[in-house]
Amino acid sequence: MRDIDNMPVILLDWYDRHARKMPWRTSPEARKQGVLPDPYAVWMSEIMLQQTTVATVKDYFVRFITRWPTVRDLAAAEDAAVMAEWAGLGYYARARNLLKCARAVVEDHGGTFPADHAALLKLPGIGPYTAAAVSSIAFDLPHAVLDGNVERVMARLHDVHTPLPAAKPELMAHAEAMTPQDRPGDYAQAVMDLGATICTPKSPACGICPWRTPCTARAAGTMAELPRKTPKKAKPVRHGVVYVAQRDDGAWLLETRPEKGLLGGMLGWPGSVWVDTSEDVPQTPPPASGQWQRVEGEVRHTFTHFHLVLQVWTAMLPADAEPLQGRFMERDAFGPTDLPTVMRKAFDLVRQDHASHMTDGIRGDRVL
Ligand code: ADE
Repeated sequence: MRDIDNMPVILLDWYDRHARKMPWRTSPEARKQGVLPDPYAVWMSEIMLQQTTVATVKDYFVRFITRWPTVRDLAAAEDAAVMAEWAGLGYYARARNLLKCARAVVEDHGGTFPADHAALLKLPGIGPYTAAAVSSIAFDLPHAVLDGNVERVMARLHDVHTPLPAAKPELMAHAEAMTPQDRPGDYAQAVMDLGATICTPKSPACGICPWRTPCTARAAGTMAELPRKTPKKAKPVRHGVVYVAQRDDGAWLLETRPEKGLLGGMLGWPGSVWVDTSEDVPQTPPPASGQWQRVEGEVRHTFTHFHLVLQVWTAMLPADAEPLQGRFMERDAFGPTDLPTVMRKAFDLVRQDHASHMTDGIRGDRVL
């Protein structure tokens, strides 16, 4: 028997006992007393959680909320400070939009997030998923939230065999039909938790699932095959060069990448454009004249649509060096944690290379 009306209640009972604790969440007990979380915190967490795991997001979230406790604080922050704090989280357009959105909330909504799905959707960086998540979690409005976890739960519950991404509208229709009027915010988080802890991609723990009885994929024995996915195209490999240089006084030669494009607005090492074949690694000249050396090994990093392989060159530059590309940043103004991961890998490779040369006694006079 499948009593659809009763299914949200069964899941909410489970959530009352098993809700995961997260720094942006309000407990089910508190929510039942009418205490809702700060929409600013919910929005921030949802932006960070796109394409990033809960475990990674927790520390970033706490650092952001501690440094900028309100949306007004964030709106007044310097772009470079926010980009540096975001470094390592990836998908940097999210950070640029985070700032734009904070400023729009202050300028157009008096510093208060609108409790309205349509108004949320108009804000920079807020798409259908985030608008639904903030509406339901922060304002307890009955909007269906469909992330990867929820897609998997819906595909199994309703034994949907259409492959993703084509299955999205069908899965959304199921998610909407099941979203309750009572406690929709807890319900949204409960489905996510179910997907993250029980209805996992491999070996789902059906034996302890609160929805094991109504689950049609479990009855059919198809749960481990679902959701089906259309195979992705292989990613191409791109190639480029970066130049990591330090001046004798310790300053580093860096650039702020253009706003538009990959790693936009982030700090990085000057270098070439990235091209599709290794034979044509671009012959971009170094960003300052000096004694450049090729660092052994290379940097490998994977972006959404391609793999990147970077040659790394390094030099120590004299105090009067003139940059042709980028600018010098004083030693104390720069920390490697300000770099996006691919640029951090280049820094680490240079440091490692230097350490190995020190033991050979070759470049022992240079301190990186
Ligand atoms: N993933 C995205 N949003 C989430 C949330 N609020 N709780 C758990 N996982 C999530």
